[in-house]
Formats: sequence, structure tokens, C-alpha cells
Amino acid sequence: MINGKTQLYGLIGNPIEHTKSPFIHNTVANYYSHNIIYVPFKVDKYKVKEAVEGLLASNIQGLNITVPFKEKVIPYCYKIDKEAKHIGAINTLKRTNDGFVGYNTDVNGLHRALISEDIKIYGEDIIIIGAGGAAKATAYLCAREKAHSIYILNRTIEKANELVTSIKKTFSGLDIHPLALDDYLMLPNKRWIAIQTTPIGMHPNVKDNIITDNSFYKQLKVAVDLIYNPLETSFLKKAKKYNVKTTNGLKMLVYQAILSYEIWQNIDIDDKVVIEICNRIINK
Ligand code: ATR
Repeated sequence: MINGKTQLYGLIGNPIEHTKSPFIHNTVANYYSHNIIYVPFKVDKYKVKEAVEGLLASNIQGLNITVPFKEKVIPYCYKIDKEAKHIGAINTLKRTNDGFVGYNTDVNGLHRALISEDIKIYGEDIIIIGAGGAAKATAYLCAREKAHSIYILNRTIEKANELVTSIKKTFSGLDIHPLALDDYLMLPNKRWIAIQTTPIGMHPNVKDNIITDNSFYKQLKVAVDLIYNPLETSFLKKAKKYNVKTTNGLKMLVYQAILSYEIWQNIDIDDKVVIEICNRIINK
């Protein structure tokens, strides 16, 4: 029941119609009987300042930030968590007496999701496909968790170069390289973990696949696709044909939300809540 003491949380983004965040957060609030409501705000692309300042003035307790505002909200934070600063993107704002503090839970959301699937990064050779926002969080995680080597494979090589340069600023000495997407055959001969971070293969274009050549999949030991709709992309289907261990983006989606909730409420959320939420999304 919403009453005078209900605390408001929300998400700003554009577009926002297909977001699962209200479902995840309101389910957690319900589970813990917190007097909280979480709502989506579709914000005009040119009005992010007005939206963030207006929500702060309206006593909102916390916000999630999605595309295209993850970098744009940075100037409106009173303080930014050290890791979020290095990543250069924020997906969580927590209200304090002085203003919003910005965090990034995408990196640790992916980390928790991989751990829950028994996939480790330490000492592994990683291919990251894509060089956008999701790739940035992935590269940061792989660098922080001490991957043995990282290749950023991207259609636009300049963007792969930029990502490598920005990661090296924080992790000097890291074995990280940019590579044009079409040059994947030039990858050293190893057993790779490939993390697919582009929107290729996402609903409704479920037949699309970023790399169709079988020889690419033969070199993999693990394939991760950050897409969660569909749960099994063409990329993962193809990897499975070569007995590659696969995992989709659903757990990352849920864990990044759970980590925001933990930051806001200063609690540890039970893993059984995460599993329950994943199952409810799968069966919807
Ligand atoms: P996000 O923040 O979700 O990661 P993004 O920043 O728009 O999204 O990045 C999208 C990524 O998908 C980019 O790496 C993009 O490649 P370019 O840098 O060459 O644009 C990649 N991508 C999108 N459409 C693509 C396509 N048709 N073929 C290959 N890569 C594509």
C-alpha cells in the first residue's frame, strides 16, 4: 500500500518501455516488506539536468540510470564512487544530505553473475565483442580481476582503440589489444572466454549473429552473451554446438539491480531472491 511514508525510487532512461527494473526492485521491496515504490521515468534526451535536479528536490531516495544517460548524469552528482569514476559511467544514484552519490553496479553485477555460473576471469584469455558502454564495464571487470589477456573485437576499430587506451590508464601493464571485428581469425590460438556485448541478436532480430564463422567458436571454452531477450541468442546456440559452456545476460541484469538495492538499503540480499526473480522473468 502506498501511503505518506512510501519512499520513492526510480529509473531514468529513454527509451524505457521494456525495462525489467521496476519488476525486479518492486519484487525485492515486497519480499522484505519495505515501504518502497520504484517507477520508470522516460526523460527527454535534452532534459537530464532538469530531471535529476527535479527528482532530488522531490525527495527521491535513489535512481538507476540507463541508456543514454549513464555518462550524462556525472556532472549532477555530488560525489562519485572511485570505481564508477574510472569506468566513466554511472548506473546508480543514492541520495545523501549533500546530493546524489554515483555508483556503477554493472561491473560487479556481471562479476556476481559469472561467479554464480562458476566462470572465473583470473588468468583467463578473454575476447570482448563490442566497444560500447556494456563492453566498457566488461573490460573494466576483466582488467580488475586480472585476466591473462584481453582482446577488444569491434566493427569500428577506433572505438576499440579508445576503450583499450582508457582501460590502460587505470590498469597499466595489462595485456589488452584492440582488433577489428573482421580480423577475428588473427586471434592467437587459445581457449578463449568470449563475452558478446553488442545488441546483435536481440529481440526481434533473433536470427542475427555477430560472428557466423564456425572456426571462431572452435576456439572458445566459454561464451557469454549479455543479451537476455532471447535467453539463447544465435551466438550462444552456435557456441553450444561446439560444446562451449554458455550463459546469457539475465543474471547480470538481475544482479546489477540487486547491487543497487543493496547500496540504497545497506543490506545483503539473499541469493534465493535473485534466483526467484530470474525464474519469474523466464516464465513470464
Ligand atoms: P551499449 O551501451 O549497449 O554497449 P553502444 O554503446 O551503442 O551500446 O555500443 C554498441 C556496440 O555494438 C558497439 O560496439 C557497436 O559497434 P561500433 O562501435 O562499430 O558501432 C556494436 N554494433 C552495433 N551494431 C552493430 C553491427 N550491426 N555490427 C557490428 N557491431 C555492431
